[in-house]
Amino acid sequence: MTPDGLIIRDAETADLPAVRAMLVETWHATYDGIYGWRRVAEITNAWHSLENLAAQLEREGGAFLVALIGEEIVATSSARLEPDRAALLTRLYVLPQYQGVGIGRTLLQVTLACFPHAPVARLEVESQNEPAIAFYERMGFFLQRQARFDGREDTPNTLMMAKRLFAE
Ligand SMILES: CC(C)(COP(=O)(O)OP(=O)(O)OC[C@H]1O[C@@H](n2cnc3c(N)ncnc32)[C@H](O)[C@@H]1OP(=O)(O)O)[C@@H](O)C(=O)NCCC(=O)NCCS
Repeated sequence: MTPDGLIIRDAETADLPAVRAMLVETWHATYDGIYGWRRVAEITNAWHSLENLAAQLEREGGAFLVALIGEEIVATSSARLEPDRAALLTRLYVLPQYQGVGIGRTLLQVTLACFPHAPVARLEVESQNEPAIAFYERMGFFLQRQARFDGREDTPNTLMMAKRLFAE
């Protein structure tokens, strides 16, 4: 039930201001209730600066995708290959007004299809982000373990989830 006219393609440099804007909007909608507006603004300004997004676009061996309806970027994802050949999903965000109509599912499938030889997919999700955890469980991920991002104590409390892929 993916919306008609949904296009998924590699992100390009010209997309980055719109990608940044949709990430900031979606981060506030997702995390203000957990961390508060100010902390979310600090994190999203740092992580989603145009410089950081441009560096991610240049990274070899990764996927950085956008989903569009017409001219509007409605979702974005990124993933990379880990040393153990796992596909690590590093970002999956759908604009709030487009959530719940199948875009996240389609974008996740296309993102993981970029890694046809990966035996497993992994991701980290904020432990209080219950809608996302329910979505990933629906997509076949299971809870692997609880961790702190980067192993640090001052960063979000995350859950690691994993899904077996059927690589050859
Ligand atoms: C989580 C997110 C990526 C899911 O994308 P989406 O486009 O809203 O989800 P879809 O419409 O593709 O849903 C796919 C399936 O998951 C289910 N699902 C989605 N959200 C769900 C929820 N909150 N609870 C239970 N099931 C859910 C849907 O019912 C659907 O299942 P079905 O069609 O098999 O019945 C999206 O809502 C989002 O960007 N949320 C805010 C940001 C975020 O939390 N990102 C993840 C950070 S790790």
